[in-house]
Amino acid sequence: MNKLDWSNPLNSAVAPREALIPEVITVEPSSTTNQEEEPVASTAPVNVDDKRVINGLTDVNQLAPFKYPWAWEYFLNANKNHWTPLDVNMTQDVHDYHHKLNDAERHVFENVLAYLTTSDILAMRNIGLAVMEKMTAPELQIYQARQVFEEAMHTWTYQHCIETIGIEQSEIYNRYRVVPEINAKIQIANRRLNAALSSEVDLRNRDDLECFVMSYLFFAAIFEGCWFYNGFSPIFALQRRGLMKGTAEQLQYIMRDEIMHYGFGMKVVKEILLEEKLTLDPKSVSDMWQECEAAERGYAEFLLPEPILGYNAGDHSEQFRYLANRRAKQLKLEQPFPGAENALPWLNEQANLRKEKNFFETRVTEYQTGASLNW
Ligand SMILES: [Fe+2]
Ligand SMILES: [Fe+2]
Repeated sequence: MNKLDWSNPLNSAVAPREALIPEVITVEPSSTTNQEEEPVASTAPVNVDDKRVINGLTDVNQLAPFKYPWAWEYFLNANKNHWTPLDVNMTQDVHDYHHKLNDAERHVFENVLAYLTTSDILAMRNIGLAVMEKMTAPELQIYQARQVFEEAMHTWTYQHCIETIGIEQSEIYNRYRVVPEINAKIQIANRRLNAALSSEVDLRNRDDLECFVMSYLFFAAIFEGCWFYNGFSPIFALQRRGLMKGTAEQLQYIMRDEIMHYGFGMKVVKEILLEEKLTLDPKSVSDMWQECEAAERGYAEFLLPEPILGYNAGDHSEQFRYLANRRAKQLKLEQPFPGAENALPWLNEQANLRKEKNFFETRVTEYQTGASLNW
């Protein structure tokens, strides 16, 4: 009776949409729904102890009381790092790219961007489509919603750099497919993240649960905690020599986000392991580190077949191993690369952008160059 009459000429132009009519329109009210099944619990206050990271049954539309106040803190802090790529002056970068970088440096610069552009889209899709919907506490979802926005901002930032500097877009965006060493990293990410993206995933099934946690561990600890964190360092090395300082400053803003992303992700993983009483298979974890280290080494050797001034492939790979050990330690997992050294001791300092105090006063017109960043 409620069904729309699509044979009506007024509707004929849109008749193919019939398949999209929500089923609810044709469903008669059932005598067994509503009053009988109206859950009494839906009006009861949310008991904070019942909230769970995943597999929870509490009302996901009720923010507080917080069971995970640290997640809300992450959200508040994330909002302090608000910028757009238009706020950074890129004039000098245009000149540097075309007139100051040598071929090897241009190769490094372009391929770092080629990897990052693809990676941030992947990051956005993973958090927005695979991870967020599985969280059953709204304070976690709210930070992840912010994270989705930030990943989109990062993609805009790379696009802004590519466009402003005048790099051929169709070529650079396609590079991750045609350069095997970039493709290898993206393939690993696709494979490990797709495992969580599947609509078949049932987190009450222990195998699926372990698969999801491994996927989120990969995402937080490696994809964001190592590959992004260390991924900016070749451009920071140029910045330290006074080159491509606008792009590098953009990356510093991104890095500040990424530090929070991996920190948050690792806390979520830790919490799930506790709540679900799950222990990850050490061999699977070890295989993951080894696979990703090999891919990173291949990528570094492609980026830097020969060293550029102040940066080389060996240090890049060693820094990956050093960071991997630190991420593993945070989760009380065995260190995958014992003895790895901090090959880029300046990287931590580089992550600390020192403009925030006067950010809005110094944007664009009073832009302070990288020289104001103290390393
Ligand atoms: Fe990102
Ligand atoms: Fe991220």
